[in-house]
Amino acid sequence: MTTKNNTKKSSSTIPNAPGIKSSSDPIISVRNLKKWYQVGGGIFNFGAKSYLKAVDDVSFDIEKGKTFGLVGESGCGKTTTLKVLLGLEELTGGEIYYEGEDVAKMSKERKNEFRRSVQAVFQDPWSSLNPRMKVGSIVGEPLEIQGKMTKKEISLRVGDLLS
Ligand SMILES: Nc1ncnc2c1ncn2[C@@H]1O[C@H](COP(=O)(O)OP(=O)(O)OP(=O)(O)O)[C@@H](O)[C@H]1O
Ligand SMILES: [Mg+2]
Repeated sequence: MTTKNNTKKSSSTIPNAPGIKSSSDPIISVRNLKKWYQVGGGIFNFGAKSYLKAVDDVSFDIEKGKTFGLVGESGCGKTTTLKVLLGLEELTGGEIYYEGEDVAKMSKERKNEFRRSVQAVFQDPWSSLNPRMKVGSIVGEPLEIQGKMTKKEISLRVGDLLS
């Protein structure tokens, strides 16, 4: 997998990613991220365990206000990296920093704040969008889950977004 990022100065709190210059103001920093899936080993752990290394030692910085592209061949681990970033999958190793803070060491409130700041738009509409829901409900659902707005505010925001 290759990562492309235009970064400048180095940061004091976050270790530098190998091969790229660390940004002075990254919003998200990923360091030595690993996600291995166990694919071998039977019940009671008999049989050899083996692991599929979906993501193995990936590091990058995402700067505030910049567009970041993660590019690589099919199966190289792009979606898995995103799933770990979103907290949908637990990481096997490495660290994720949000505004310089290690996500694994965050308080529950701060982690929720981080989760609210990260959103995913998956490519496949059939697995992302529920055809039984109206578009207004689909757009408003994340705001409802965040629990920060009233029904009225959500309705106004959804109206704005769809107009
Ligand atoms: N839950 C899982 N269990 C076992 N292996 C998995 C699991 N999810 C993904 N993998 C494997 O991890 C590797 C990386 O998959 P991933 O979907 O992250 O690749 P990708 O870069 O997003 O590919 P594409 O460009 O095709 O979307 C693949 O070999 C995939 O088969
Ligand atoms: Mg993918």
